[in-house]
Amino acid sequence: MRADDRASCHVLVIGSGGAGARAAIEAEKFGDTILISKSIVGKGGCTPMAEGGYNAVLRTGDSCVLHEEDTFRGGAYLNDPDLVRILVHESPERFEELIRWGALFDVSHDNLPAQRSFGGQRFPRTCYAGDRSGHELMLTLLEHLRNSKVHILQEMVVVELLKERDRVIGAVGMNTRKGELTVIRADSTVLATGGGTRIYDISTNSATGTGDGYALGYRAGAELIDMEMVQFHPTGAVYPYDARGRLVTEAVRGEGGILLNARDERFMVRYDPERMELSTRDIVARAIATEIEEGRGTSRKGVYLDVTHLPSEQIEERLPVMLEQFLKFGVDIRKEPMEVAPTAHHIMGGLRITTEGRTTIPGLCACGEVSGGVHGANRLGGNALAETQVFGKRAGETAGRSPSRTGRIDPLQIETVENRMEEFYSGDIPPWTVSRRLQRAMWDDAGIFRTEEGLNRTLGTIEELLAGALCAATPQNIAECFTVRNMCLAASLVVRSALLRPESRGAHVRRDVKQSWDALTSPYSHTYISVYREGIMRREVPK
Ligand code: FUM
Repeated sequence: MRADDRASCHVLVIGSGGAGARAAIEAEKFGDTILISKSIVGKGGCTPMAEGGYNAVLRTGDSCVLHEEDTFRGGAYLNDPDLVRILVHESPERFEELIRWGALFDVSHDNLPAQRSFGGQRFPRTCYAGDRSGHELMLTLLEHLRNSKVHILQEMVVVELLKERDRVIGAVGMNTRKGELTVIRADSTVLATGGGTRIYDISTNSATGTGDGYALGYRAGAELIDMEMVQFHPTGAVYPYDARGRLVTEAVRGEGGILLNARDERFMVRYDPERMELSTRDIVARAIATEIEEGRGTSRKGVYLDVTHLPSEQIEERLPVMLEQFLKFGVDIRKEPMEVAPTAHHIMGGLRITTEGRTTIPGLCACGEVSGGVHGANRLGGNALAETQVFGKRAGETAGRSPSRTGRIDPLQIETVENRMEEFYSGDIPPWTVSRRLQRAMWDDAGIFRTEEGLNRTLGTIEELLAGALCAATPQNIAECFTVRNMCLAASLVVRSALLRPESRGAHVRRDVKQSWDALTSPYSHTYISVYREGIMRREVPK
């Protein structure tokens, strides 16, 4: 075993977005904590890019029961009820904590945090900081982290979790610049690596959203659920090419923005006449995709999102990032509509967790987007930032409370990683060609609309890509090779799970399945997938 560096800690947190940072802050109260970031803490991951807001029940007129019901209905009743209950009941407390820690969210005239309407919610419960809510949340956590004893390792990818028998006892990290390995032994490990919609051609995720956590957890033997449930955010930028897929926040519709097709029709009236643009994301994304597919989209394959009827001051105050972003593209949204189309945004599935954040394998907790269950088949906008804080704290505490152990690292595991690195130096396929093929295949056949034939075709492509010998010329390429392997594995989990679910539900639409169930009476529950077993759970159908 030649690993370049070694470390040991009580809790190892992998991932430095909202969930990872919150978990590390909590874990550090119990002992030495190391936080690994694939990029620079506060810069990578999806949290700093989250625009719209944070859902919390804060006002009379709203209630936890209402928030729970909205979350279940939005999630097509596939959500884990215990996780939903905790999310809803603890999110206000975590929000107030952020404010105490210095977060500056907008305040309304009643001196309470301002809240706006988001899709699928019967009360305006989304707290916000203009349209840069995630950025504000992340800055606050960062400040807190800086004042803590959490030891941060930046620009490091975790290439494998370490195990002693069935227990996770740490991880092997690799510095992305130098290609050097660090072996970290930990009493308890928290996976908080975020999502992975970079496996799709068009995505809102930052470059780090490559599904590493799903792959690490799967290879270590953890069970994942509902990986077929991928959310396509209805409104991503359509042009310029480099900005394609970039998030155009739901707050635009929350503030009163309307959707129009190329014939100037407010088409949501055909898909959800009651909730219109503030229907749930699965419905709005499908509506837009259908308009485009049936020839009523723009020449650039989008639809219009229009706020020109709103007062300019409202746009300037509440949507400053949108205004600035589109001005850079040459569009003044105060005077002309934006062009938008669906973009891969969030994976609702992930590692199965308990309410304390434990996964199905000892020594490993998970929180945030890498975990599954709370959002069911479709997430409500604003529930993700809340999830990072509620379950980040819980997972950090669970890991922190775990007993100290004397795990022995098996040198063979390190050698396996080193051998793989050697193989990359002698491979012949550039990793970027693999990620491009993967992203296209996923977009074409495992996107908003799916069929068994298309999914099988994609699975064939993924298997071919996984069998190829990736090549690296530099240490940075080595990190890319590990990441691309993870992307392929994460994609295969999505596609295999999509094949396991013979129904359309929430964000998962199988065009080849004629039988349709109402979400409440569907005989199917979670799909599950691990190295040991995969399938779909059946449930008693209420009569
Ligand atoms: O549209 C948005 O601002 C995204 C919010 C979310 O995904 O929660």
